Amino acid sequence: MAETVPGLLREIATVGTDPTRGGYSRPVWSDAELTLREWFVDHAGRRGLDVETDRNGIIWAWWNPTGAPLVDGVVTGSHLDSVPGGGAFDGPLGVASALAAVDRLRARGVRPSRPLGLAVFPEEEGSRFGIACLGSRLLAGSIAPERAAALTDPDGVSFAEAAARHGLDPHHIGPDRQVLDRIGVFLELHVEQGRGLIDLGRPVAIGTSILGHGRWRLTVTGEGNHAGTTLMTDRHDPMVAAGAIITAVRDVAAAVPDARATVGRVAPVPGGTNVIASTVHIWLDVRHPSDAVTADVVRTIHERAQDIAAAEGCAVDLVEESLSPTAHFDAALRDRLSGVLPDAPLLATGAGHDAGVLSTHLPTGMLFVRNPTGVSHAPGEHVEDVDADAGADALADALRDLLGDPA
Ligand code: HGY
Ligand code: MN
Ligand code: MN
Repeated sequence: MAETVPGLLREIATVGTDPTRGGYSRPVWSDAELTLREWFVDHAGRRGLDVETDRNGIIWAWWNPTGAPLVDGVVTGSHLDSVPGGGAFDGPLGVASALAAVDRLRARGVRPSRPLGLAVFPEEEGSRFGIACLGSRLLAGSIAPERAAALTDPDGVSFAEAAARHGLDPHHIGPDRQVLDRIGVFLELHVEQGRGLIDLGRPVAIGTSILGHGRWRLTVTGEGNHAGTTLMTDRHDPMVAAGAIITAVRDVAAAVPDARATVGRVAPVPGGTNVIASTVHIWLDVRHPSDAVTADVVRTIHERAQDIAAAEGCAVDLVEESLSPTAHFDAALRDRLSGVLPDAPLLATGAGHDAGVLSTHLPTGMLFVRNPTGVSHAPGEHVEDVDADAGADALADALRDLLGDPA
């Protein structure tokens, strides 16, 4: 059975390709992501793992040959959903590597005396319902179930409705202590979303921390009107204010060392070519190692946005949608991983992960695999075959150590 990671990923290489954006668009519970879920469940079943989907839509696949109690297990995994037009590796690399690591452990004669679990978390990107790591947040109790249930996608479908369509009870989503107690330690392998390993000349790194990050929605309101009958002097155009606000976002963040602020999504209402918009929604992503600095950057952006809007005869409102403090991975686990993988450098990441959400509840770590382009959340994301398999080897070494099992 021992399959290579590139071989596993080639099996899903055509699932969810996006002809318009390029790359992959695999929002949670889309046909593409459902196909990937089936792919994972099929591979887990072929490996004799016990597969189940929990109340929050997280898929678990357990290898527990001794029938030990399902608590305090060693768990690895990632996600299968993507950003719009995303790369092939963000998420699926960690899932494929988990399957390949099981193959490697078996080939080495390992027979875990404690449960080894593989996990696939839904809506890690927050691309459909707007909150990143929604599955792991629900599991950990980091988001109120009622709030999650009421989240809607761009078509107005609520998370509750979508969850019900896919076999979940929307009244039953939320914190799950029994499932959380099954995880004694969580180790996520992920494509590096940056250039660290290129510059270090190594295939695999050990994660140290995740940059604090949040999402805010700015709503600029003006006066909708006709594009042809409204003189320029008579306009209160929120699109003009939005354009200046987006430039201000860049200017504010550029003035703060290590801050990152992004507007990747804008939605004018009603959105007609010959229509002066009445409202423009702008989604803001701000990140910084210091949560206080993140708050300052957002505050400054809000103040600048208010001045800009007022100058255009518009108003602006800011709503925080999600906030994840900087996550520091478990130091003892990090050091243990360094003992197992002495050639792997330590690396922080600016990208959020389910491992970050779980890190406040249990010992959590990450492994990053070299991405020769350094690009992510875009079609250019890449991992060389040899590095993909080096990642699975490293994951297998780490899991075997954590399982404490002699071969
Ligand atoms: O947004 C992030 O950092 C992650 O890819 N969800
Ligand atoms: Mn990811
Ligand atoms: Mn991502």
